[in-house]
Amino acid sequence: MSALEIRGVRKSYGSVETLKGIDIALQDGEFLVLLGSSGCGKSTLLNIIAGLAEATSGDVLIGGRSILGVHPKNRDIAMVFQSYALYPNLTVRRNIGFGLEMRGVAADEREKAVNEAARLLQIEALLDRKPSQLSGGQRQRVAIGRALVRKPQVFLFDEPLSNLDAKLRLEMRTELKRLHQMLQTTVVYVTHDQIEAMTLASRIAVMRDGRIEQLGTPEEIYNHPATLYVAGFVGAPSMNMLQAKVEGATLAIEGSDARLPLPARFRKMVGEGARVVVGIRPEALRVAADATVPSLPVEIEVVELTGPELVTSARIGAQRLTACLPPGSRVSKGQAGIFTFSEDAVRLFDPDTGKAFAS
Ligand SMILES: Nc1ncnc2c1ncn2[C@@H]1O[C@H](COP(=O)(O)OP(=O)(O)OP(=O)(O)O)[C@@H](O)[C@H]1O
Ligand SMILES: [Mg+2]
Repeated sequence: MSALEIRGVRKSYGSVETLKGIDIALQDGEFLVLLGSSGCGKSTLLNIIAGLAEATSGDVLIGGRSILGVHPKNRDIAMVFQSYALYPNLTVRRNIGFGLEMRGVAADEREKAVNEAARLLQIEALLDRKPSQLSGGQRQRVAIGRALVRKPQVFLFDEPLSNLDAKLRLEMRTELKRLHQMLQTTVVYVTHDQIEAMTLASRIAVMRDGRIEQLGTPEEIYNHPATLYVAGFVGAPSMNMLQAKVEGATLAIEGSDARLPLPARFRKMVGEGARVVVGIRPEALRVAADATVPSLPVEIEVVELTGPELVTSARIGAQRLTACLPPGSRVSKGQAGIFTFSEDAVRLFDPDTGKAFAS
């Protein structure tokens, strides 16, 4: 039985369908990240789970029982929002315990729950302060504390870190991961930050325009994107995508004389003359000494040292290519170069359907 199951959920606002049939089943303790660009329906789905919005059709089940008829208050779900709206005139202690107070939980029990949450979040020293006396990261911890004291079956997070600066985001991300490892509660977490998704998720659902484009582990999503959309969305810089044509046992790169060997695992999937998109991650490219290996002759256009990497933009005929190279690599602006890669790094996509040829 799934901890949380979303079955055929659809949502329309008037004639506009925002969710077009979402199916996900979560195991107990999973950390699911809903990843997608603005407007794809992430918050809508989260709000339906929380009971803040109503599905047009479909069902949401916790532990095998439908919760759609259950009042949001009684759903055994706690939600943390992007804007963590704390009560400004209440102390941290009362902010965290407020939900329990409203439910009529006894003072000593409340106190115990608040202290426990404060210990987990390492904000025990702040309990008697007001929100105005806290940093952004500390406020966000208080908002999480408010959810923690409820000890819910499922936590929902809607972009909880997006109001924080880069350094705090990173700290809180690690903090959330640590909390989840300790508590092992099922989580659904919304973000459009792919690094957050990759680092936190046990599985990622990449959403696009009201649908799930791919559902898989971070490793699957990153290494085996099911579509060109996922390949382009996850990873920075994005996966290189070269237009090519199958010619015998080679892939002829359009607009250039370059040819790559067609990896054997794809030979039965693509016919002679077929147009394909060749996907290669920037970090899979290396500088080659000569063209005896699988290689791409390029013109180097821009070389940027980011610190750990030399991000190199190059041209191959009319097409562009980015490589993330080790800092000592021999590349210079305006010169010819040769990139090589392992055949295992090659992905092929159908340009018409956008789907990957899965090997
Ligand atoms: N109450 C509403 N009435 C009409 N349309 C709505 C309503 N709420 C959301 N929408 C539309 O539904 C779509 C999905 O919205 P949603 O808030 O779920 O997106 P999101 O993926 O969370 O985006 P973001 O990353 O910007 O928060 C959007 O096109 C939005 O305009
Ligand atoms: Mg949203």
